[in-house]
Amino acid sequence: MINPRLDDLHRRIPGLRLETAPAELEYYGRDWTRRWTPAPLAIALPANAGEAQAVVRWAGAHQVAIVPSGGRTGLSGGAVAANGELVLSLSRMNRVLGFDPVDRTLTVEPGITLQAVHEAAAEHGLAYPVDFAARGSCSIGGNIATNAGGIRVLRYGNTREWVTGLKLVAGSGELLDLGRGLVKNSSGYDLRHLAIGSEGTLGVVVEATLKLADPPPPTQVMLLALPSFDVLMQVFAQLRDRLRLEAFEFFTDRALHHVLAHGGQAPFDQVHPYYVVAELAMEGEGDEAAMLAAFEHCMGQGWVSDGVIAQGEAQAAQLWRLREGITESLARHVPYKNDVSVRVSAMPAFLAEAQALLAQGYPQFDVVWFGHIGDGNLHINVLRPDGMDDAQFVAQCEQVTRILAQTLQRHGGSISAEHGIGLVKKAYLPSTRSAAEIEVMRGIRRVLDPYGIMNPGKLFDP
Ligand code: MLT
Ligand code: ZN
Repeated sequence: MINPRLDDLHRRIPGLRLETAPAELEYYGRDWTRRWTPAPLAIALPANAGEAQAVVRWAGAHQVAIVPSGGRTGLSGGAVAANGELVLSLSRMNRVLGFDPVDRTLTVEPGITLQAVHEAAAEHGLAYPVDFAARGSCSIGGNIATNAGGIRVLRYGNTREWVTGLKLVAGSGELLDLGRGLVKNSSGYDLRHLAIGSEGTLGVVVEATLKLADPPPPTQVMLLALPSFDVLMQVFAQLRDRLRLEAFEFFTDRALHHVLAHGGQAPFDQVHPYYVVAELAMEGEGDEAAMLAAFEHCMGQGWVSDGVIAQGEAQAAQLWRLREGITESLARHVPYKNDVSVRVSAMPAFLAEAQALLAQGYPQFDVVWFGHIGDGNLHINVLRPDGMDDAQFVAQCEQVTRILAQTLQRHGGSISAEHGIGLVKKAYLPSTRSAAEIEVMRGIRRVLDPYGIMNPGKLFDP
């Protein structure tokens, strides 16, 4: 070590793994946003909760900023370390610590991937139902830090619903044991829920106890092509009211265009403005017939221009790939991402207004819409036109986001549905949260992070 501060950290916690090689700083200093140049001081990779706590205590005593780090698949800059911070990577803490068959809970370390949690639950004949495309890379600690949502929220809720216990090393250095797996606990403020979605600004999750669900039912997957967003909402209401929806995801022709540019086969002969991937539970005897009847009803009404019901698992996976491949297919363009929500009932009006404003003011942009209809969550990705330099692009995208924030305010929505505020949306937080609410959040942050070391600069400024 040549840095005296790191020498000191090394002396105080002798077994702690510390990385300072340029390639490691680069790797751990960024997330999927790719907009900031990584410049961390070093990477600390604790092997257990005791080491993680020791690092936080040392950082508090020495006023060193910490960036908690999981799979770094975030899209809001929450895990970016661009200002000499110490990255506290939980990636080595990735074990399943226990399964309780009576409580039906799984206790895990924070660095475990979502996919490994799925697999561990399945080994016990149960399921952890939060799911999204980054499952193989994202970590449960990061999911908790952003209250991650994904493709099954309309059926199972957000991450928040599934965390019954949480061990958090607060910025103060205290280890807080929150929730303790209790189903009922009416004993004052539920600090667990403050930690969930706090984006690493209050502390570091070092252990989580997750509630498990019954194994998923058999399902049918369909892909529908639709002429307008209004009919898409009618189809949603039909399927939701007549059947049991496990997922209802939408994307536009532009999204499909980018996925297919990456490989794969067009699902239909013609291009359509909107597409839906719907997954339906097939539990009861009449479910298959009910699904066909609903499908035929939607066709008969002229709501569905074309459609296919997957014949088997391979085709179902193929249809899902059209939706789940969107993020990856856009990544090489380094899109400017917006992740907004409004009440489900407000979606058609919001989308129509926002689409018109963008088409009028920013015709130069390829704007790609997709998202989670059942949750009122729309992803709006803006792509840089050929020849436009990055600074100009980002400046114009910020204008776009300002317009979206104003439109969201008129429709009572939020500037971040599931990605978090991080760095990307920090300037727009006041469009979603009142000044009084932000002041309360500041107060909470001061109590749990008295030295101001936990992910400074993220969510809001001191
Ligand atoms: C998704 O729904 O695919 C994710 O939130 C990722 C994204 O918005 O790109
Ligand atoms: Zn999403």
